[in-house]
Amino acid sequence: MSDTSDHHDLSFDEFDERRNPGPDVTGFDEVVDRAISRRGLLRSGMAFGAAALITGTNASLFAGRAEAASRMAFQAVPANTLDTVTVPKGYNWHTVVKWGEPLWSHGVEFDQATRGTGISQETAFGDNNDGMSLFTSGNRHVLAVNNEYTNRSIIYGNRQTKLPEGADDVRKGKAAHGVSVMELRNNGGRWSVVKDSPYNRRITADTPIVITGPARGHALLKTEADPAGTTVLGTYNNCGNGRTPWGTYLACEENFNGYYASSDDMFEPTAEMKRYGVGKKDWGYAWSTADDRFDISKHPNECNRFGYVVEIDPLDPTSTPRKLTALGRFKHENAEVVVANNGQVVVYMGDDERGEFIYRFVSDGRYAVGGDNSGLLDAGTLSVAKFNDDLSGEWLDLTPESTSMASLAEICIHTRQAASVVKATTMDRPEWVAANPNRAEIYCCLTNNKNRGKKPNKGGDPTPVGGPNPREGNKYGQIVRWRPDAGDHTSSTFTWDLFVLAGNPTVHQDDRKGSQNVDRDNMFNSPDGMAFDTTGLVWIQTDGNYSDKDDFAGMGNNQMLVADPDSGEIKRFMVGPRECEVTGITWSPDKRTVFVGIQHPGEKGDSHFPDGGASVPRSVVIAISRDDGGLIG
Ligand code: FEO
Ligand code: CA
Ligand code: CA
Repeated sequence: MSDTSDHHDLSFDEFDERRNPGPDVTGFDEVVDRAISRRGLLRSGMAFGAAALITGTNASLFAGRAEAASRMAFQAVPANTLDTVTVPKGYNWHTVVKWGEPLWSHGVEFDQATRGTGISQETAFGDNNDGMSLFTSGNRHVLAVNNEYTNRSIIYGNRQTKLPEGADDVRKGKAAHGVSVMELRNNGGRWSVVKDSPYNRRITADTPIVITGPARGHALLKTEADPAGTTVLGTYNNCGNGRTPWGTYLACEENFNGYYASSDDMFEPTAEMKRYGVGKKDWGYAWSTADDRFDISKHPNECNRFGYVVEIDPLDPTSTPRKLTALGRFKHENAEVVVANNGQVVVYMGDDERGEFIYRFVSDGRYAVGGDNSGLLDAGTLSVAKFNDDLSGEWLDLTPESTSMASLAEICIHTRQAASVVKATTMDRPEWVAANPNRAEIYCCLTNNKNRGKKPNKGGDPTPVGGPNPREGNKYGQIVRWRPDAGDHTSSTFTWDLFVLAGNPTVHQDDRKGSQNVDRDNMFNSPDGMAFDTTGLVWIQTDGNYSDKDDFAGMGNNQMLVADPDSGEIKRFMVGPRECEVTGITWSPDKRTVFVGIQHPGEKGDSHFPDGGASVPRSVVIAISRDDGGLIG
């Protein structure tokens, strides 16, 4: 058992921050001196349309909304702190699948007392669902869902310590992570899991996965169990997702660091480990107590085999998932895939940690409809974004020449370090990236960053206030968007603006009130999940402060909003239950159902969602539709 009682209730980033706080204020005064002022930024005033950044006061403002009629026909849902899901009048929701629900008839129904065992969890839907995509083959619907992590106090709530106590608890924890793939059926408007479907599959922290791309076989990926450095066991902490035009699912490994510990107190984590937050104490999972490979003093290379994007073919349950090193190693949030005009495949990705970066991968090969596209994400150019203060930007290629690293393989393993060398822009925690289907335009949620303007990132890179990160100690977050020059996703340059600065106009009158498209009726904090629907509206999900007090008064529980990229209008569509985050979104092929993820309700103990009474709170996927059966995106 790890000694984790002092930190097991902290969020990932709080834990990392305390244990591995990174460098102090290295050269920070110089940084402040040359940081651009917000006035400087705002003076440039490029316009992307009605919601574009304009000149003005030191509050970041957008031009007024377009007067055009709203494209959103629903009535906005008021903020609330109820322990349920609230959708607009004329819409309904139901639960599709819950954590611990068996996917096969030989599985065991969820046990409220034990909250499952190793065996029951291996045949059941995993915990804390996040990104997901629905795939359709003929009349079969197959949902692939990330199961990001577990809340120890919930999954081990049957234990005195609220922590794993022994090998079976660790087995249960590992099986609660990964990806769940399952067939769904719509029976008279209610979606549910098809038990025993041949498509049903669990991918966990122990599933064999083949390593592809430039780092395959590199010395840093070789371990005692895998001397060739080509096959790894498992994927875990899969946060957001992506899907490819050739029908595969992308699961993105985010906070992989919190699963490692050292049995040797004298072991000194390397600088490379520290950059990724890998240290001597895990985050309360105790995997190293039952599986040596998570002991960094014994197997220091194992952690180099996580932090990637994993490609899965959900329609072939016998296929081996592939770990795509070409897309770099960092705390991957999601992977938004677009096909450039010339057929090259472009993947946009955020690294969710304070002061980390936004990346782009451009494939060497070109997408061929109906052709063999299986290797497209194995070879290409990885770049990192630099946002200039004049609202221009550029992609800085990560190559041995530009980074002084020995090889592309090393860049794909120590990607953060490579990005620091080329001086990419340190961002306010990049979460999901989403592509507008109507034009070459990409959005990225920058969820919040209490260190902005105060502390460098873990690599010592300065985090000056300015550019797309305009607020010191950013509590509310913002959404940045950019357009590649000439509408070409392979272009090395782009222009950018801010689509929204979240804030609280009922509490603040300075830049913390947010941009003009934020008001008392739609205010929110910490945008995170994000996806466009086929009509070109963008759905925004939040993972923020749900205290409903002080700076966050009037915002209620975490929620989902819909925004119009053209007018800047933002409207609240849904409120989640208490202490949840809303994350993960996908649609039925007929666009009459939107599937939404409710993650970690009751993470601090104040929810019994979805079953009420005294039941254990459980993460779920819900389905939302219109009462009249109309289109919903
Ligand atoms: Fe798993 Fe950055 O959210
Ligand atoms: Ca997220
Ligand atoms: Ca988040």
